[in-house]
Amino acid sequence: MAKKKLFIKTWGCQMNVYDSTKMADVLSPLGYDVVDIPDNADMIILNTCHIREKATDKVFSELGRLNEYKSRREQTGQSTIIAVAGCVAQAEGEFITERAPYVDMVFGPQTYHELPEMVAKATGAYGSNRVINTEFPTESKFDSLPSDSQDQHVSAFLSVQEGCDKFCTFCVVPYTRGSEFSRPALQIINEAKSLVAGGAKEITLLGQNVNAFHGDGLNGKTWGLGRLIHELAEIDGLKRLRYTTSHPRDMDDELINAHRDVDILMPFLHLPVQSGSDNMLKLMNRKHTADTYREIIAKIRDARSDIALSSDFIVGFPGETDQDHKDTMKLVEDIGYTLCYSFKYSPRPGTPGAKMGGIVTEQIKSERLQELQGLLNKQQHTYNVTSIGKTMPVLYDRKGQKDGQLLGKTPYLQSVHITAPDRLLGQIVDTKIELAHANSLAGSVVTTETTSTTTEKAKEQAA
Ligand code: SAH
Ligand code: SF4
Ligand code: F3S
Repeated sequence: MAKKKLFIKTWGCQMNVYDSTKMADVLSPLGYDVVDIPDNADMIILNTCHIREKATDKVFSELGRLNEYKSRREQTGQSTIIAVAGCVAQAEGEFITERAPYVDMVFGPQTYHELPEMVAKATGAYGSNRVINTEFPTESKFDSLPSDSQDQHVSAFLSVQEGCDKFCTFCVVPYTRGSEFSRPALQIINEAKSLVAGGAKEITLLGQNVNAFHGDGLNGKTWGLGRLIHELAEIDGLKRLRYTTSHPRDMDDELINAHRDVDILMPFLHLPVQSGSDNMLKLMNRKHTADTYREIIAKIRDARSDIALSSDFIVGFPGETDQDHKDTMKLVEDIGYTLCYSFKYSPRPGTPGAKMGGIVTEQIKSERLQELQGLLNKQQHTYNVTSIGKTMPVLYDRKGQKDGQLLGKTPYLQSVHITAPDRLLGQIVDTKIELAHANSLAGSVVTTETTSTTTEKAKEQAA
């Protein structure tokens, strides 16, 4: 079979990153090899994100460039398939086909297992046709996606749950990803084993609401995420487990206790709160208060005192007053985060928030964002400084930009760079932290042995 080049550009969350590897896996038997640069690609897939207006805009500017690329290749007799996948495809499918007639395929996140048929249709096996596929099929794509992946990364993603039924009033995800669905535990365990056999030492379990996971267990009962984590921790060779993203309402005791009981579950939790004001939380339909969030965090810290905490924040949601913003600042002060993401509210078509009164001006949004980010950055830097002098197990999973530099992650998800030989790539190495920057740490190798009791050491360090 003649080999063809496939370039996939991925925006958005880790679930899109995971989906891109799955699309590559599905297309591989059709002769498509993934390439790192778009030059000379026979198929280009844009795996898109719709979460904020800016994310969506990027897709349309990229499409303009791809139109020129496709025309250039046509002049030399070469054809190119241009495809738009992901959340913008799901939400704006019709609009894309109208505005960009040179796009051959538009398909949503739940249809990736149907790619072989879609490609056959678009390439003319049954007479060349444009493909628009934004259905939510009744069968799960996970039943037909290959569980063996060519993705041999030492730190791997594994989707265990998809979709969302929470309908926060600012968010498009329930519309682009569909309703909540959990994969059966057996399917997940098999995929995890295959990732570990392929060289993964760390697996991050993914879901739009990963802690809402309620999949069929191995014992005929429904399992929550805590139970699943216990089971996955038994896999030989797996050294680290993480999960993201969680919702405060689904942080049950079994999951909280897993942070106490499961050694390889890393001491880091991304638990988005969005706002510290009860008025805002109500308008956002988050269905919890700032104080219930504080209580959940206290419980988690009881279970694992050294846990590093992270959150997402939205400033300038409709109706947000100065007092609401102060409540957010107060919550941040109270909790003490190590790594956060914060955004100006972006009204999204079709969501209840987009129709709400009390619009906050861009100017005020910018001021509030700046103030919040100032505090979050300060907290992150202060936290990083406390790491200086400690020895931590770091998983080096990529090369740095400079020659001889490796990049890795501490158990607390801090980025670390060191100068070290390439053979340490893919290893968990005890590293003495010497410098703390705003977003990363620098250190040097203490021992070149791979450590097996990494979290134990991390716990001792924190004690
Ligand atoms: N499922 C996750 C997050 C999904 S989106 C959760 O429930 O937390 C990631 C983040 O993007 C959200 O946590 C939120 O902070 C931000 N976000 C979502 N919609 C947004 C919007 N309309 N404007 C600005 N930020 C938004
Ligand atoms: Fe969006 Fe809310 Fe669902 Fe998260 S929980 S994906 S923010 S609707
Ligand atoms: Fe974006 Fe879709 Fe993820 S909107 S954040 S790619 S679920």
